[in-house]
Amino acid sequence: MAGIRTTEATGLLGWVDERFPIVETWEAHMSKYYAPKNFNAWYYFGVLAMLVLVIQIVSGIFLTMHYKPDAQMAFASVEYIMRDVPGGWFIRYMHSTGASAFFIVVYFHMFRGLMYGSYKGKRELVWLIGMALYLALMAEAFMGYLLPWGQMSFWGAQVIINLFNTVPVVGDALSLWIRGDFVISDPTLNRLFAFHVAAVPLILVALVFVHIVALHAVGSNNPDGVEIKKLTDDKGIPLDGVPFHPYYTVHDIPAIAVFLMVFFAIIFFMPEVGGYFLEHANFEPANPLKTPVHIAPVWYFTPFYTVLRAVTLSPFAGTLAMFGAIVMLFLLPWIDRNPIKSWRYRNTAHMMNLAIFGAVFIILGYLGVKPVTPEYKEMGVRMTEIYFLFFAVLFAHSNAAKPGRYIIWFAVLAGAVLFVDYVRYNPDDAVAAKQIMWQWVWPIGYLSLTLLLPFLMRPCNAEKPVPERVTS
Ligand code: HEM
Repeated sequence: MAGIRTTEATGLLGWVDERFPIVETWEAHMSKYYAPKNFNAWYYFGVLAMLVLVIQIVSGIFLTMHYKPDAQMAFASVEYIMRDVPGGWFIRYMHSTGASAFFIVVYFHMFRGLMYGSYKGKRELVWLIGMALYLALMAEAFMGYLLPWGQMSFWGAQVIINLFNTVPVVGDALSLWIRGDFVISDPTLNRLFAFHVAAVPLILVALVFVHIVALHAVGSNNPDGVEIKKLTDDKGIPLDGVPFHPYYTVHDIPAIAVFLMVFFAIIFFMPEVGGYFLEHANFEPANPLKTPVHIAPVWYFTPFYTVLRAVTLSPFAGTLAMFGAIVMLFLLPWIDRNPIKSWRYRNTAHMMNLAIFGAVFIILGYLGVKPVTPEYKEMGVRMTEIYFLFFAVLFAHSNAAKPGRYIIWFAVLAGAVLFVDYVRYNPDDAVAAKQIMWQWVWPIGYLSLTLLLPFLMRPCNAEKPVPERVTS
């Protein structure tokens, strides 16, 4: 079992082992760490996230050797890296593609957590540390994006740092303190550079370390949600587990190979990915006197950007909603209190709820890169409503044994949506009023699918028996 050392090391390894518990650590976390034998493809994303972290750190070190954190020289130094530094273009594209790849991998990793209820069964801390990682990753990406000092770097940072202006009373002082100047300028670039290359990477690495230590203390969840530590043989070895090494180290190699093939194909053949991985406006040097026609953050921030734009009650309310959207994810372990972990054994209503949430997150992201039209603006509001309603519905589904409550939840939540519509409705603004009048179908349709329909069709909505042992 994990933690019990059984191998005596000799030679150099023995020498080290007498001074540092190298064999014990290897056994506890690799060769005698028992992982469930039914991991599926969704379990590749954790290791892929670690791989991308390494790629980012290594490519980042080489970029730092040639980059100049100076407002007068930053843009030119990136051009110099791209044109004159041997292999510089390759290192830079690795880093820019790695940023997007990181978020793709982490979003899949998080959705896996939702599907299999991986935040349950004493794994709340694994989830919370994961969320801290996600926050650190967003901070790291935001700060890195300023460094090329292009138009989008400058104006994107302007939008984000101005969010702090919206905080009542201290807002102006806060954003001044963050910028280090009255406008985004050299001191801003310098401090964000320091955070991007030193402070935040250290935090990321430290958090990944505790993420894994916390996970290994509890043991991995799996697609069946079976706690493998519960059923062991007479030596204490889980009957449904296999040693992480060599089984999963070897099992992960093909996934890493496929990932790297796609990763390098992007670097070699389409590094800008149509302006999504590297925005076209960022090939122009930052110009504080020329606002780009359309400012949008990079794709991985756009779901939250849409939430920000959707709440127009006051600038601070928009900022609160945006941060609230992230805070809700932190609270998931306490919102979803259904004892069944995996969606395989939850009712159909829960599966639908998760699938719709995934789709809504993607739509929010899409809306965030689009210029605001009346249709898109209202759709942003509706998708934001569904984003937040998801958590209420998840809470309602916690007790599937009492579907009678679904109807009460439906009435309360639909009532809340219609009340907000009533408050927002302004007949003088005919264009917006028209959109409000028909787009209510999205949240009400969502609530009907996840609460009303399962109430009406109770027999088709039963939870399934959870197996004692893994099934595949
Ligand atoms: C730099 C980012 C991250 C890295 C390198 C990372 C790495 C890993 C690794 C290697 C595992 C074990 C293998 C696996 O289960 O896939 C894992 C598990 C897990 N991670 Fe992450 N992770 C990251 C971010 C996150 C985030 C943002 C969340 C969610 C908030 C999260 C939540 C979890 C959970 C719940 C598990 C346990 C899954 C289970 O046992 O089913 N992680 N992570």
